[in-house]
Amino acid sequence: MPYSKIAGLGYYVPETVVTNQDLEKIMDTSDAWIQERTGIRERRFFTYGTDSIASMAAHASRQAIERAGLQPGDIDFIILATITSDYYFPGDGVLLQRELGLETIGALDVKNQCSGFIYALSVGDQFVRSGMYKNILVVGAEIQSTFLDKSTEGRNVAVIFGDGAGAVVLQATDSEDHRILSTHLHADGRYAEDLYVKGPGGSRPDRWFAPDMLENGDMEVKMNGSAVFKHAIQRFPEVIQEALDANGYTTSDISLLVPHQANLRISEYVRQKMGLSEDKVVNNIQHYGNTTAASIPIALTEAWEAGRVQPGDLICLAAFGSGFTWASALIRW
Ligand code: COA
Repeated sequence: MPYSKIAGLGYYVPETVVTNQDLEKIMDTSDAWIQERTGIRERRFFTYGTDSIASMAAHASRQAIERAGLQPGDIDFIILATITSDYYFPGDGVLLQRELGLETIGALDVKNQCSGFIYALSVGDQFVRSGMYKNILVVGAEIQSTFLDKSTEGRNVAVIFGDGAGAVVLQATDSEDHRILSTHLHADGRYAEDLYVKGPGGSRPDRWFAPDMLENGDMEVKMNGSAVFKHAIQRFPEVIQEALDANGYTTSDISLLVPHQANLRISEYVRQKMGLSEDKVVNNIQHYGNTTAASIPIALTEAWEAGRVQPGDLICLAAFGSGFTWASALIRW
């Protein structure tokens, strides 16, 4: 039975940089507050008419495919993670397939919020291991800037999130040495409403959308920030340790931890709790904010481009987010 390895990586972020100072002009917030609480200095917002979730996913995917030494036609399956699809349905998997000019290969959508990329990677890993597919595109892409209430009322959420896309090519390999070692997925739906967007939704009295939803703010992100923080700092270390235990490793074996970029304070807490030095943890939230399903493939690609991911390295990916969901993946590069 084959294993899977990451054969190529890519990312795309929209051109428009929105700094904390830009946000100060439209809501009652401050650069100092945002940096102290989240570490974020700037994020990217998409340009209407230029970017879509599918187009950003396609930019990242083309780069990943090229770096894998493949042509788009070599891809035999697409898995795309997003919570902010271009249409309510169909999902963006088929739109990405169309953008890449691929015909009839399957396209699967994953809606697991900030853990979406690792969930998607795990699904892809199982497909490759079963022998069903040889080259799978696994993508995370989000346009969140249009979901945010950018007034003072929505400031606790609006300052955190940004837009972007990242992609990897997952490829079949016989190598015991360079491959995805294991993935670990978890969820606890009791906390679904601690970070969610209520509407539009099917279980409504009449139609799945209505003017009152706008008035009630039902279509905007609602977050219980302290609950998210509390659970995140527990679940991140837990799921990283689970991945290490499953493979007989300890934290000292980790070459690089690529955490979902939720909040610099969370990543810093996790780093200290796991006893990792600063150079062993990737942080780029300062520049992109939290890009949900896109954050891990963007961070992993940037780290790879910077030479921080070398053959033989033990790379750990870890995520926590809405659901709550959390997940990890351990990779021998
Ligand atoms: N700018 C300025 N002030 C703000 C603000 C902003 N953007 N957002 C909230 N505040 C204010 C609040 O209104 C509150 O004011 P008050 O004391 O007068 O009522 C004060 O700051 C403290 O608010 P609080 O929500 O208690 O702040 P906090 O220290 O808990 O930080 C978060 C808020 C969101 C940064 C923090 O809870 C957090 O990081 N949570 C995790 C979020 C996360 O990672 N989400 C993504 C998960 S994938």
